Amino acid sequence: MKKIIILISGNGSNLQAIIDSCKSGNIDGEIVSVISNKENAYGIQRAMKAGITTKIISDDSFNSREEFDKTLFSSLMEIEADLIVLAGFMKILSKKTADHFYGKIINIHPSLLPKYPGLNTHSKVVKNQDIIHGVTIHYVSSQLDAGPIIAQGRIDVNAHADIEELINRIHQVEHIIYPKIINLICKNDIYMENGNVNFKNNSHPRGYICNSYEI
Ligand code: GAR
Repeated sequence: MKKIIILISGNGSNLQAIIDSCKSGNIDGEIVSVISNKENAYGIQRAMKAGITTKIISDDSFNSREEFDKTLFSSLMEIEADLIVLAGFMKILSKKTADHFYGKIINIHPSLLPKYPGLNTHSKVVKNQDIIHGVTIHYVSSQLDAGPIIAQGRIDVNAHADIEELINRIHQVEHIIYPKIINLICKNDIYMENGNVNFKNNSHPRGYICNSYEI
């Protein structure tokens, strides 16, 4: 069974969806560790409740960015996981970490990349009166939110949408597609080869069209 590390910074609703999918057998993998860079992240409580080993590598407890990066890197090396899942991890990984684990780290980002990398994606959608919004699951590279795309989920946005509503609807999509993609990676049905994302035996999940999942 594949060993999974999950990195979080906050609420951990995606973490919860992944925990639940592992428990119900919908992910062929085991979460061996949850690491947070924020001491008070609610996701840590979710992990503890599920009996998963947790670790806090708090931004605040290091004198420099380099020390934080070094500690996170050695923790990831120590655990020897098959897959590292960023689930609302709001810190940019060091180049060394991104390069070393290239092909093994995935992220979920609340926009239809390459549109809106970085922060405040929902408010940008509202401000620009976009009619489509979504989420992207991608392999992590050393360029922010720019690694090879695995899957996207789209939602329609109506003219009166507010940010709260968008966050809720985006979360609903995330909680469906992230566990599905993680399972396919655990089964080796999705993998990266020569920098490209490959889907074995047409294993692209039902409902996904051109790397998009519509809800
Ligand atoms: C999710 O919407 C995720 O896409 C986003 O943070 C949220 C975390 O929610 N990630 C990023 O913005 C990364 N750039 P959660 O803690 O409830 O899972």
